[in-house]
Amino acid sequence: MKTKDVMSWKRAIPSASLPPGTKQSVKVSDEKLLIGRSADGLLFAVENLCTHDDGPLAEGELDGRELVCPRHGARFDIKTGAALCLPATAPLTAFPIRENEDGWIEVNLEE
Ligand code: FES
Repeated sequence: MKTKDVMSWKRAIPSASLPPGTKQSVKVSDEKLLIGRSADGLLFAVENLCTHDDGPLAEGELDGRELVCPRHGARFDIKTGAALCLPATAPLTAFPIRENEDGWIEVNLEE
């Protein structure tokens, strides 16, 4: 059980590379993710393409705890991935994320 837990978490980005109010596109195990930290410190990891028409979310704005798609302006909750306004109606896939004492941020792609 413990071994599976350790294997499920993957290193994504050094903590120092993600100060508050920033986000970065990161590839983890062939999955293209958008990983970020809101200005008030909430970590998040979501798929990097908008569910409306594949807009590149990494190029959009991080507005508080919402991601804004640069293509048509849909907004998503950073933690749950929920679509908050049109034209997107489907949620983003959101992944568990944690920050370790070893200075790395990890994501879990299997939960
Ligand atoms: S592609 Fe994101 S709102 Fe249209």
